[in-house]
Amino acid sequence: MQLSPLTERVTGSGASAWDLHSKALKERGAGNDVIIMSVGDPDFATPNKITETAREALARGDTHYAEIKGRLPLRKIIAQRHINQTGQDVTPDNVIVLAGAQCGLFTASLCIATTGDEVIALEPMYITYEASIQVTGATIVRVAQKADNGFRPNISAIEAAITSKTKAIFITTPNNPTGVVLNRDELVEISRIAIKHNLWVISDEVYADLIFSGEHISIASFPGMAERTVTISSLSKSHAMTGWRVGWAIGPQHLVEAMEKVALCMLYGLPGFSQEAAKVALTDLADEPKKMKAIYQRRRDLTLKALEEAPSLVAHIPEAGMFLLVDIRATGMTSREFSEQLYAQTGVCVLDATPFGESARGHIRLSFTLGEEQLIEGCNRLCQFVNSRLNDRAIA
Ligand SMILES: Cc1ncc(COP(=O)(O)O)c(C=O)c1O
Repeated sequence: MQLSPLTERVTGSGASAWDLHSKALKERGAGNDVIIMSVGDPDFATPNKITETAREALARGDTHYAEIKGRLPLRKIIAQRHINQTGQDVTPDNVIVLAGAQCGLFTASLCIATTGDEVIALEPMYITYEASIQVTGATIVRVAQKADNGFRPNISAIEAAITSKTKAIFITTPNNPTGVVLNRDELVEISRIAIKHNLWVISDEVYADLIFSGEHISIASFPGMAERTVTISSLSKSHAMTGWRVGWAIGPQHLVEAMEKVALCMLYGLPGFSQEAAKVALTDLADEPKKMKAIYQRRRDLTLKALEEAPSLVAHIPEAGMFLLVDIRATGMTSREFSEQLYAQTGVCVLDATPFGESARGHIRLSFTLGEEQLIEGCNRLCQFVNSRLNDRAIA
């Protein structure tokens, strides 16, 4: 029986990026000596107090349908947090709680774009953006943020990509995979473009709490932006809660109401016990991300140090998050060949970064979601692999 064209539109080109990762997981499960540096799931346990809160809620019988848009006390907390971070004057009516940032991106996209529209996305970008945009029928227009410019946005390239069909721009700050945090000047320029061309901005800010130096700025806080911006975030990375699926979108009320209609027929509300746990995460444990950030920063620095053993590698120092892009082009291999051969010879699994966008071709993504000992061992094996490959080439 035939499936709808939608099923093709959501088959993003990035799907195969995870094949090696899945293989590594399986082989590690079978007891093989495998070091996985390819995943974006924090290795920490969700803090006890959060888990306890959920347990108590379950014991109380909080196991029924909950408000589709999210419980009011939770939306109040999220709105207040957003006011504190951005100065943007929002109310709980501007907030919808959804199943992770991913569900927020997907729903916002569906409510904003349609067939015939174009949506600009700055690549390298998070792998699911392609499907989240294309599901609407809109065309994704990729704008390169080049490696030789530190993966920073090219404002004139964004401007040049605008046509009469452009409906929205997707931005990510901090970025996965590059770790770039958009600065004030860049955000001012992007907002100028959005206002001039009457565009929506979908701003993915899931790593905002994990910035090592410098500040996080929400584009929604700039004049003229609140009415055209949807700010998306979640607890997945900030509180090691990827499996709880708690995320949210903050935007103009008519957009949030439209998103609620989609959520009604797609999700029908997040489990109450997850929402109760989220309240505690955002209040009593609001400082938890600071601890996580310190750990990631330390791991980043250890990784950078360890990679010095292979001088031909060029590491792009991330300003935030849990990932590091490494330029491996000096080895003469494609990033795909590199990750496959590295895994086959050393058991170290890294991600070919090409599926994040053409600008990341020739780069691999390492993640800091493993303990220091494993991280250093993984980097050592990686450096040995690179150095021996270069030696072999020199001899040949
Ligand atoms: C940039 C970015 N946006 C969104 C997500 C999805 O996060 P969530 O678990 O909140 O759906 C991720 C997850 O890795 C991400 O890296």
